[in-house]
Amino acid sequence: MTAEYKVHGDVAVITMNNPPVNGLGHATRVGLTDGLTRANADAAVKAIVITGAGKAFSGGADIKEFGSPKALAEPNLLSVIIAVENSPKPVVAAIHTVCMGGGLELALGCHYRIAAPGTNVALPEVKLGLIPGAGGTQRLPRVLGVETALNMIVSGEPVKSEMLASLPGQKLFDKMAAAPESLAEEALAYARSVADARPLPLVRNMPCKHPLGDAYFQFARNMVKGMAKNFPAPAKCVDAVESATKKKFDEGMAYEREIFTALMFTPESRALRHLFVAERAASKIPDVPEDTVKREIKSVAVIGAGTMGGGISMNFLNAGIPVKILEMKQEALDKGLAIIRKNYESQVKRGKLKQDKYDQRMALLSTTLSYDELKDADLVIEAVFEELGVKEKVFKELDRVMKPGAILASNTSTLDVDKIAAFTKRPQDVVGMHFFSPANVMKLLEVVRGKETAKDVLATVMAIGKKIKKTAVVSGVCDGFIGNRMIEQYSRQAGFLVDEGATPQQVDKAMEKFGMAMGPFRMGDLAGNDIGWAIRKRRATERADMKYSRTADKLCELGRFGQKTGAGWYDYEAGKRDAIPSALVEKMIEDHRKELGITPRKISDDEIVQRLVFALVNEGARIVEDGIASRASDIDMVYLTGYGFPMHRGGPMMYADQVGLFNVAQAMKRFQQNPRDDAAFWEPAPLLAKLAAESKTFS
Ligand SMILES: NC(=O)c1ccc[n+]([C@@H]2O[C@H](COP(=O)([O-])OP(=O)(O)OC[C@H]3O[C@@H](n4cnc5c(N)ncnc54)[C@H](O)[C@@H]3O)[C@@H](O)[C@H]2O)c1
Repeated sequence: MTAEYKVHGDVAVITMNNPPVNGLGHATRVGLTDGLTRANADAAVKAIVITGAGKAFSGGADIKEFGSPKALAEPNLLSVIIAVENSPKPVVAAIHTVCMGGGLELALGCHYRIAAPGTNVALPEVKLGLIPGAGGTQRLPRVLGVETALNMIVSGEPVKSEMLASLPGQKLFDKMAAAPESLAEEALAYARSVADARPLPLVRNMPCKHPLGDAYFQFARNMVKGMAKNFPAPAKCVDAVESATKKKFDEGMAYEREIFTALMFTPESRALRHLFVAERAASKIPDVPEDTVKREIKSVAVIGAGTMGGGISMNFLNAGIPVKILEMKQEALDKGLAIIRKNYESQVKRGKLKQDKYDQRMALLSTTLSYDELKDADLVIEAVFEELGVKEKVFKELDRVMKPGAILASNTSTLDVDKIAAFTKRPQDVVGMHFFSPANVMKLLEVVRGKETAKDVLATVMAIGKKIKKTAVVSGVCDGFIGNRMIEQYSRQAGFLVDEGATPQQVDKAMEKFGMAMGPFRMGDLAGNDIGWAIRKRRATERADMKYSRTADKLCELGRFGQKTGAGWYDYEAGKRDAIPSALVEKMIEDHRKELGITPRKISDDEIVQRLVFALVNEGARIVEDGIASRASDIDMVYLTGYGFPMHRGGPMMYADQVGLFNVAQAMKRFQQNPRDDAAFWEPAPLLAKLAAESKTFS
């Protein structure tokens, strides 16, 4: 049982106890209804209090039950709320810390509510692509007014109890407790004070109207349309709340349920629920226990004040951790520092950062030209030129000076972390911390686990990743780690498509319509086409079997590296970032096709999306097979947070699950027949083939 029952004189207290947030799973629901039955059967009990143990009243539904028959198993949340409403003895919700989703809906079913200050109150279902499904859209407007309630439901954001209690005319809280510590006592006293009150007040009987009526809902719909983009749920929140003002209560409830059930099966809600679970899963490393003792990180050193070093430093300064940056020359330090300052100053100008916060952050930053001054740092992150020889020099110096137990991290994007670790006599302390550019903005942090990286080093780096607000995902050592290893296959397909007849703009448009933040050619122009060029040159010796389109090389031979050279796949006007289709590039592509003897064919947007996304999926499956990623959902996290993959698709692996792995494998077989493509690559990865054959999914 996950709810406790205790009688204090004439008041029964039912305490939900399902850590960490008293999720309303089946056992908790049984505990609640059993408690109600017992209390109503006990003549000595005059009133009932429902509350939550530990750190929440209740955080709401148990997400593990979502979409499963268990969520509907009796008593489901709706039946529990009806049992509460129908209780002949008054039921008081004693609310504290967290009161969200189903937890708030349960409280709204109670006859009275007393809340502790500081409680986070929310209906966050919209963040999972849903609307509240147990009366939230019908009852919250009745106690808070239509506008406040709709804002909360559409945003899903928590609001503090004291702020809600201060709203004129609010009926959400009948009483505010003086402090969280006195809530239990005050709830008992309050329950006694209403023990004889009859009839018992029910939220369902309260009126619900907006003075502007239809005009208000029209306005709300327009507002929501702008922000919701690819997600259907926010607009449905408006529909449901509107029905609270127009339909009888029970009809409104039925309408809410209908919408909730329909949304539950949409790909968008599946994607968001997947994301919720994937985010939590990514922080767990299968062979590193959660209670692993972590090393203390009180100060950080960064080697290199270039593009990455500066951005990386800002992350730690923002989190209040002192940073010392080392460079070879004073000029490089001055240049790096000036960029950090400029970044912060622009935040201050835009009102995103207060002047005193800026001053505090800059005060945590220091610089040096001498390794000896770094020796006491707990973590050092190297971000120097991408050359193994340079990394060797740096790591040998670090090995010489750093105190025992310091973590030595490299931000390398392509080099072998095991080789870097071998430059030191402490490979167990070496790890990759692969940030993405701009490092102070991008959420993703690939934590690269070398073959000797110690478990406590990994646990520490994952924890520090969280502290600096990154999504940290563990990758094994391989060329490109998770993200770039996959993007290479994606870019290769983009190249083949152009050879075969598509234009760069068609490919970009198709991918952007699919939802990518940017198509592959615009992305190349932004990141610099010379990066891929260097990789392909390396591949020519390392992996001669890998087939590439030569078009991108020809582009680079023209010096068209992208935005930084004012021209790439597209033309750019000075100082602007708008991609303008280039007649010169078009001619270059046509000439190249002629050289290859290709008659261009019309290529559909569907083919473009499938070839690019399924290339990610096939390589992703190999990455899971190789043990480079612990789970398919980690790959989704990498793509959602580092590569602009559309959130509403849930990541490439989740997207493949939704298309159906059988269909994905069939498409790959079709691509194998294309003589211009790479048939060997399109052989479905064994993991994918196996799952497809068994009608299973990656998740
Ligand atoms: N730029 C990106 O998008 C990106 C993304 C992820 C990872 N990385 C990786 O980050 C690292 C740095 O890349 P960047 O783009 O910041 O390069 P950058 O050229 O902008 O900066 C490198 C800095 O390191 C300094 N430096 C070079 N050798 C040094 C030494 N021996 N000691 C001290 N300082 C030295 C240079 O003076 C320069 O300021 C590389 O390993 C790169 O692969 C880059």
